[in-house]
Amino acid sequence: MRISVIGCGYVGLVTGTCLAEAGHEVVCTDNDPERIATLKAGVVPIYEQHLDAMLTENHRSGRLSFTSDAGAAVRGGEAIFICVGTPPLENGEADLSAIDNVARLIATEASESKLVVEKSTVPAQTGQQLKRVLEVYRRNGGAEFRVASNPEFLREGTAVEDFLHPDRIVFGVEDEQSERQLREIYRPILERRFRCSVHLTGCPTTKPPTLVVTTISSAELIKHASNSFLAMKISYANMIADVCEKVGGDIKEVTRALGLDPRIGPRFLDAGLGFGGFCLPKDVQAFIRLAERSGVDFSMLKEAERVNKHRIDLFLEKIRQALWVVKDKKVGVLGLAFKANTDDIRFAPSLEILRRLLAEGAQIRAYDQEAMDRTSNVFPQIHCCREPYDVAREADALLILTEWEEFRLLDWERIHGLMARPLVIDGRNLLNPEAMMERGFEYYCFGRPTQTATPQFMAAQVSKFSEASARI
Ligand code: UDX
Repeated sequence: MRISVIGCGYVGLVTGTCLAEAGHEVVCTDNDPERIATLKAGVVPIYEQHLDAMLTENHRSGRLSFTSDAGAAVRGGEAIFICVGTPPLENGEADLSAIDNVARLIATEASESKLVVEKSTVPAQTGQQLKRVLEVYRRNGGAEFRVASNPEFLREGTAVEDFLHPDRIVFGVEDEQSERQLREIYRPILERRFRCSVHLTGCPTTKPPTLVVTTISSAELIKHASNSFLAMKISYANMIADVCEKVGGDIKEVTRALGLDPRIGPRFLDAGLGFGGFCLPKDVQAFIRLAERSGVDFSMLKEAERVNKHRIDLFLEKIRQALWVVKDKKVGVLGLAFKANTDDIRFAPSLEILRRLLAEGAQIRAYDQEAMDRTSNVFPQIHCCREPYDVAREADALLILTEWEEFRLLDWERIHGLMARPLVIDGRNLLNPEAMMERGFEYYCFGRPTQTATPQFMAAQVSKFSEASARI
């Protein structure tokens, strides 16, 4: 099928590339001509596992192309996927102006009937508005527009895998033809029948995805409800971590057992700095506003948001307690991206932490394998290091802000030797507290017994001190 994708951000590029991979003829367009020029030159402007290789392969084979002529893209596609951004407005509601612009463009450019698919995350009722705009601005009487919602559940870092090997696919449709057309588009993925140009970990013999066909409004709500639930799950785990700190439990032990209950499940129970990124925080806010406007008191979700914001305060408090005075301290930062395996720093907890530490006079050296350039554009005053060990050199404290696996595997003995004070404050509960204690670190994290306070740590310190005295 000839498919047009409008918007070449994370969602648009992954959608376009994966639909081409599934065998369709895809044209992607964006209102940023520079982005299109970059893509035409074969450069992928974002870091996303497998995207580079898959996009290059499909571009080379001619199934995937890019154009800055949005009108031509609209005219050429039988189905048009809207993948433009819906950033938050000042009041937390989603800014739908990009969707509105695209709808008017489609209405004025299309000369034949089209299936218009909303892929961007939008509040319920957007599909109905979209239908209205398409109808009101329609230029050509012969063009008929069918609207459908097909929410994405892509996680950054595993978006290609998520698109091609999803757990579920949701079609929000209101007519048979739209459903038929969407089934045709997704058939290779639904039946797991396509030749993959890169090696994905999701085994093609695993269960095929479940297809859920709903109304447009339900599909829109499914997306918001899913992300909000994940956010609440994380905030819940974070609250338990706080209780663990007070009463002496270990959050890892508690959530492990909690997650073994199939009604709860093990994922999204990692306590720490909380959720960031461009989706969860803004989707939660937008859902709260939607509920408010509809007269529903969703205070539960407001609380999840409040708990999340408070994680940063708690983390800074841990830093202040350990360092006493922050001013002029050399603070090393490992990890800047909002989560591992991405270069994305939008709404990353690291940004607020850096901002506040800089305001308090800390000297910051930072390292992240992917997100360094983006962060130094925001904070030119931080010193970006080429390798993680440089961050530790002469540092008074080392902070872990992203759960990159690389950090777990560092030579921590070497880091101990490099630091002015071997103090690690782990915002992602990435490291093993006992191992850190054995290496002689002062180690703090969320919801696990802080090593300085445990009897083992005190005993280890005393014995180290006695050994040192005996040597003297
Ligand atoms: C999310 C949804 O998961 C995805 O389905 C949707 O389509 C887009 O939004 P993404 O933004 O890529 O995906 O990030 P996700 O993997 O959900 O993580 C969000 C944030 O929560 C990250 O900052 C992560 O570090 C944090 N997180 C995640 C936790 O703090 N604890 C956890 O247990 C899991």
